[in-house]
Amino acid sequence: MIKIAPSILSADFARLGDEIARVEAAGADQIHVDVMDGRFVPNLTIGPPVIEAIRRRTRLPLDVHLMVVEPERSLEAYVKAGASALTVHVEAAPHLHRTLHRIRELGCRAGVALNPATPPAAVEYVLDDLEVLLVMSVNPGFGGQEFIPATYAKVRRLSTLLGGRPAELAVDGGVRVEHCERLVAHGATTLVAGTAIFGAQDAGEVIRRMRAEGAKARPAP
Ligand code: DX5
Ligand code: ZN
Repeated sequence: MIKIAPSILSADFARLGDEIARVEAAGADQIHVDVMDGRFVPNLTIGPPVIEAIRRRTRLPLDVHLMVVEPERSLEAYVKAGASALTVHVEAAPHLHRTLHRIRELGCRAGVALNPATPPAAVEYVLDDLEVLLVMSVNPGFGGQEFIPATYAKVRRLSTLLGGRPAELAVDGGVRVEHCERLVAHGATTLVAGTAIFGAQDAGEVIRRMRAEGAKARPAP
């Protein structure tokens, strides 16, 4: 089944605990946590102390998306804070194979994210070393941007490269209900959405519609 991961970047940070409870009750499968360092991307968000606080407020897995330079320096802190998956950017991790193995060693699911301009071949030789492939469908740094249509072909290509491997193929950035059927048809298994979910009055309705659109492309067995 398709997984829906609300990105808390678009939540009301002053009411973060309630916002997370709202999307958990609305049927979210996991919480997507965007960490930005003001260097890899021109924006700054949250770090381990906030993740630790979130961990106490929800039972859902916390998928932490690290948009930071030198991610290998802070892996332990994020795992300790309660991350269920740690996704690093291939553009920021020159020793990617080692970094992924370190994440796994720490008992966490390992993920790699690709910026829109990064070719699928950049991850070809680490496909056996990860649990999550995160395809950016906007340039990372901000919520509420426009979905980049070239993402569909990229998802298809990565899905082919993955072959039968069980890794999650997630799409992140500008995802709205109208993109979901086509993304899943191209091979996406997880849909990350910030504005579309947190910006809605009824988050549950958006999550249900996203799931239903995905199910049109890949009906549940
Ligand atoms: C972008 C982040 C995304 C994004 C999702 O830098 O990684 O998670 O904020 O939010 P929307 O759906 O608003 O693009
Ligand atoms: Zn993200």
